[in-house]
Amino acid sequence: MKKGLNTLLFLIIGFGFVACNSSSQKGRQAEESSSAISTASAPTNPLDDKGVGPIQSVQLGAIQPELVKKGEAIFNEKCTACHRLDSRYIGPALKGVTKRQAPEWIMNMILNPDVMIQQDPIAKQLVSESNGAVMANLHLSEEDARALLEYLRAVDDSSSSQ
Ligand code: HEC
Repeated sequence: MKKGLNTLLFLIIGFGFVACNSSSQKGRQAEESSSAISTASAPTNPLDDKGVGPIQSVQLGAIQPELVKKGEAIFNEKCTACHRLDSRYIGPALKGVTKRQAPEWIMNMILNPDVMIQQDPIAKQLVSESNGAVMANLHLSEEDARALLEYLRAVDDSSSSQ
């Protein structure tokens, strides 16, 4: 009876050891593969990258309040499933994005995310920082994407003048 208990304890401890050991092995493998992804190179100045998609050039002027309002409504309806302004959620925090990325890049990311995450170096990098989550193609119009850009510009404008 006592011997049976000892054997049982031995088995439990032994199994626990094997299980721990193999999970730390997995952890190491995950670390190695994520560091391999993060070495994918991005262009030296991200603002030179216009992305891949229908938008070749965007003319920006003074911020247009009507467009901001439209963009804010679309943002709250369609984008907050995955984004917050101030903190990372499923995707990156979007405050500051108009300082980090070219306006064309932002619109192409909204309109053509599937191709962007395959081909654009910055977008590929962002996927690896988002645990593999990918930006959804919401099939918006160019006008909607332009309104969203204006909203994001307004967010960054007000945060920089505070
Ligand atoms: C299903 C979740 C999801 C939805 C919905 C979504 N996004 Fe994203 N977005 C992401 C993820 C994840 C990334 C990071 C890139 C990647 O992994 O594909 C991202 C990246 C971005 C980027 C680049 C951020 C940076 O730091 O450069 C912008 C801009 C963006 N999204 C805007 C939007 C807008 C605007 C909408 C609404 C029209 C939207 N997203 C809807 C998940 C989403």
